[in-house]
Amino acid sequence: MLSTRDFIRLSLETHLFFLRIMKEHSFFLQVAFTPIDEGYIERANDFRMEYDRLLREVIYLSNGAVSQDVLQSGEVVTPYTLDAEIATSNFTGVRIPTQLTEEEFRIMSINEMALNPMLEEKVYCINERVIALTNALIQFKSNILNNVLTCKMFTMNYPLLIDHIMREAKLYVRTLQRFQNRESIDAGREAMEEELFWNRIMAEHAKFIRGLLDPTEVELFNTANMFGNTFDQLTADSREVQNRVENLQTVTRQSLNATKEIREFKRAGTEGILQCKIKSIIIPLLGDHTIREASHFLRLLQKFSTI
Ligand SMILES: [Fe+2]
Ligand SMILES: [Fe+2]
Repeated sequence: MLSTRDFIRLSLETHLFFLRIMKEHSFFLQVAFTPIDEGYIERANDFRMEYDRLLREVIYLSNGAVSQDVLQSGEVVTPYTLDAEIATSNFTGVRIPTQLTEEEFRIMSINEMALNPMLEEKVYCINERVIALTNALIQFKSNILNNVLTCKMFTMNYPLLIDHIMREAKLYVRTLQRFQNRESIDAGREAMEEELFWNRIMAEHAKFIRGLLDPTEVELFNTANMFGNTFDQLTADSREVQNRVENLQTVTRQSLNATKEIREFKRAGTEGILQCKIKSIIIPLLGDHTIREASHFLRLLQKFSTI
C-alpha cells in the first residue's frame, strides 16, 4: 500500500516526465499530417495544449514535493530542451510555451515542511484528468495507426513510431491507475516489466534515428544500427528473465551500460542537429525527447541495481 507521501511524490514525478512526453507526441503527430487532414492537425493541437495546461498545474504543485533524484536525472528537462523547442517552433510555426521549460529548471525538491493537506486531493484529481485525456490520446493514436495501415491516410511518421508512442501512453495510464489504487509493486517484478518495456523502446529509438538520418551519414547510420541490435538482444534477454529470475541482475547491468552509451549517442546527435552539423529529417525536439526517455530508463536501472 502506497503512503500518502509516496502517492503524491510518485504521481507528480511521473507527470513531470510523462506530461512533457505526451505533449511532444501530440506535437509529432500534429506536424506529420498532410494538409488534407486538417481536422487531425487541429485535434493533435488540442491535445498538445491540454497537456501544456496540465503541465503548468503540475509544475506549480511539484515545488517542494518531488525528489532531487528525479529533478537531476535529466528526464524532466535537459540542457538542450529549450534550444530544441525554440528551433522546432521556428521550423514549424507551432508555438511552444518555453516558459514552462524555464519553470521546470526552477522546481525545488522535497523540503521538510508538512504536506499541504489539500495536495493529496489535488493530485488525485489531476491523475484522473490525465488518465481520461491520455485514454483519449491512445484512441486517437490507434485511429491514426489503423488509417495508416489500411492506406486511408498518409503521415510522415513511421507506423512503428505511432505504435511506439501508443505503448508509452498506455504505460503512463497503467502507472497512474496503480497510484490511484495505492498499489505498491514488488521491486523485482517492477524491474522485469520496466526493463522489458524500455529496452524495446531504446531499440526502436535507434531504428528511428537510423531511418531519419540522411543516407550520406554512413557512420552515424552504422552506430544507430548497432544500438538497434544491442537493444533487440537486451529486449530478448529481458523477456527470458521472466522465466529465469536469477539472471535479472546481469540484464540490469548490461541494460545500464548500453543505456548510458545510447544516451551519449543521442546527446551528441541532438547537439549536432542543433548546431546544423548533421544532415537528417530529425526535428530537434525529437532528439531531446529520446534523450529524456533514456535518462528516465537510466534512473530506473540505477534504482533496480540496488535491489
Ligand atoms: Fe516518446
Ligand atoms: Fe520513445
